[in-house]
Amino acid sequence: MAAKQNLKIALQKRGRLSEDSLALLRQCGISFSIQPSSLIVSCNNFPLDILFVRDDDIPTLVNSGIADFGIVGENVLYEQSCRQKYNIVQTLGFCNCRLSIALPQKTTYKGIQSLNGKSIATSYPTLLSSYLTSKKIDIDIVTISGSVELAPRIGMADAICDLVSSGRTLSENNLLEREVILESEAVLIQSMAMTAKKKQFLQRSFISKIRATQYRRAS
Ligand code: PRP
Ligand code: ZN
Repeated sequence: MAAKQNLKIALQKRGRLSEDSLALLRQCGISFSIQPSSLIVSCNNFPLDILFVRDDDIPTLVNSGIADFGIVGENVLYEQSCRQKYNIVQTLGFCNCRLSIALPQKTTYKGIQSLNGKSIATSYPTLLSSYLTSKKIDIDIVTISGSVELAPRIGMADAICDLVSSGRTLSENNLLEREVILESEAVLIQSMAMTAKKKQFLQRSFISKIRATQYRRAS
């Protein structure tokens, strides 16, 4: 049963982060059982409720204090960083990827200046625009929420800026990675919202479990 005083952690419901996030909790000795349609699950042996949400919503839930913790990719976190009210407790060493600019293989590329005046499709307009502004490059950003690698093939943009993990999606779409703008991995974030003393104790105990498990995994 979900109890008011339970800690809450927001995890990705479905996708790249979700399996490793759940595995980490289990490695901490926390037990729970999930039904395919579960949106909230209370753990059996620790006062923790797991909220299953879209990863884009995790920073908001933690910033608002609705969730005490969240596991999210740095890519999502930094894209939304203007609203930050969280601490990064721990980098978690999974879901490693990079946010990169890629161009069609046949496009000549002579450094970042070649991007001037081009259009770039991305789901990360904030990170892309701040990177290019720092390099004094002027481009047209086309925001799209998925299947970004399709954009150059359908004449929607000259280039893309998207996550690269194995590189398979890029090569399948005849794209070459040209600039890495962010290296990203999953992180545990904690809300900075005020909480009762009893909850602070639980939060510290949860963080120690995670840190001890990470230490074991790394050694
Ligand atoms: C992600 C990402 C890339 C791809 C990278 O897409 O946006 O397209 O995976 O992985 P790879 O380098 O191992 O091929 P996802 O599958 O999440 O789909 P979406 O972006 O269309 O939502
Ligand atoms: Zn994608």
